[in-house]
Amino acid sequence: MVTPLWPNLVEIPKILGARVTTVSLDFDQRGWHLDLDKLLAALTPGTKALMINSPNNPTGWTMSAQDQQAVLAHCRRHGIWIIADDVYERYYFDGACAPSFLDMADPQERVVSCNSFSKAWLMTGWRIGWMVAPTTLLADIGNLIEYNTSCAPAFVQHAAQYAMVNGATSVQRTVVRLKQARDHLAGGLATIPQVRQAPAPTGAMYAFLKIDGVTDSLAFCKRLVNEAGLGLAPGVAFGPEGEGYLRWCFASSHERLDEGVRRLGVFLASQG
Ligand SMILES: Cc1ncc(COP(=O)(O)O)c(C=O)c1O
Repeated sequence: MVTPLWPNLVEIPKILGARVTTVSLDFDQRGWHLDLDKLLAALTPGTKALMINSPNNPTGWTMSAQDQQAVLAHCRRHGIWIIADDVYERYYFDGACAPSFLDMADPQERVVSCNSFSKAWLMTGWRIGWMVAPTTLLADIGNLIEYNTSCAPAFVQHAAQYAMVNGATSVQRTVVRLKQARDHLAGGLATIPQVRQAPAPTGAMYAFLKIDGVTDSLAFCKRLVNEAGLGLAPGVAFGPEGEGYLRWCFASSHERLDEGVRRLGVFLASQG
């Protein structure tokens, strides 16, 4: 798995008995980026599957089509499955949709794409999504669903179908709003001297930033929420690679983002 990463993706395979190895993105003035050679070196012939979430929660990093080609070719050679968490693919700021392994893989290749209505269609909590997988997997996946949830509720399926058919304008509107919010937040954060932020994230809805002097992100976030009334996610929740960082979700109004920046600034100034 490429980390930092939304923790569920790391923990679920562990519950199922998998051994999870991680390859960390790197952070510098260019922002979050992947060392492709490091990832390829970790994908040894014994590896069963690679989990990639791009655009990424929490960093906003998006894998380039070029890197995806290289990873696909490597995984092909070694018989490694690629499981792509594509839930943020429509929350992409450099084009209509983020690059996807589905665009380059043969339909029967070892590639599974997982998607959700929670993000682009604002249906968080409705518990519905979809997978694209080789047809050879469908019977087994059908059984797994049957023995887990049996099915998504029928009325939620109707809502998802409606969102698919009629939701394009709403998705576009949300992406425009998110991009403006991303830039607005970056402008606000730039006024706080202790904040180190990467250049604008290319996808998802998060800024993953560093604050000078913060080494225990959980303790810092607890104080921030209790003393300043600002709730940010501690970077360590996204794996040890995220320690020292904070995740700020910018899916919010400019007024609320401004108020958050104000509270963070006042809190940091009071720390001396
Ligand atoms: C990378 C990633 N995948 C999946 C999900 C969850 O999607 P769902 O609401 O469909 O379970 C999230 C939610 O935060 C996420 O960040």
